[in-house]
Amino acid sequence: MDTLIVYASKHGTTHEIAERISRLIGFNRCRTINIAKEKVPSLENYDTVIIGGSIYFGKIQKKIQRFCEENLQELLTKRIGLFICCMNNEAAKEEFNGAFPADLISHAAATGEFGGTFNFEDMNFIEKFIVRKHIGVDHTIRRINAQSINHFAILMQ
Ligand SMILES: Cc1cc2nc3c(=O)[nH]c(=O)nc-3n(C[C@H](O)[C@H](O)[C@H](O)COP(=O)(O)O)c2cc1C
Repeated sequence: MDTLIVYASKHGTTHEIAERISRLIGFNRCRTINIAKEKVPSLENYDTVIIGGSIYFGKIQKKIQRFCEENLQELLTKRIGLFICCMNNEAAKEEFNGAFPADLISHAAATGEFGGTFNFEDMNFIEKFIVRKHIGVDHTIRRINAQSINHFAILMQ
């Protein structure tokens, strides 16, 4: 195992994409960690680290932000892949740039904004209300860029 995938996911899209990247690179080479549920292992055994999260109100999950900040120096010695899931195509680049430290972005071997899902079956009442009122969407929409994920995985192999 040489690749660690660390991710955060509220409604499952980032989880699904992390699993997909792991499958494309090879399950036997990857360990996948949901940062909200599992302890991140020591990075010393991995030469490649992929970090992903999803965007809510313009920001990536705090645990992912903290992981990047606290381990920045060590991460800069690894091969790095960074990705986000988000639904606002126009803001995606800016959201990506705000999600990870600038030094880590410059250092990354691959980066991606992979789209996402508005999953009405899984959202709570407040989320449904916000998405209806501010985005004008009232049903489940799935917009995932499979081609970008494949390209990202090839670069990270
Ligand atoms: C309440 C709410 C707020 C969101 N805010 C943003 C946002 O500011 N920008 C964006 O691009 N996507 C936004 N999204 C879309 C999510 O990033 C998208 O649903 C993503 O697939 C979630 O991934 P996850 O299931 O792994 O958490 C929002 C979604 C919800 C439900």
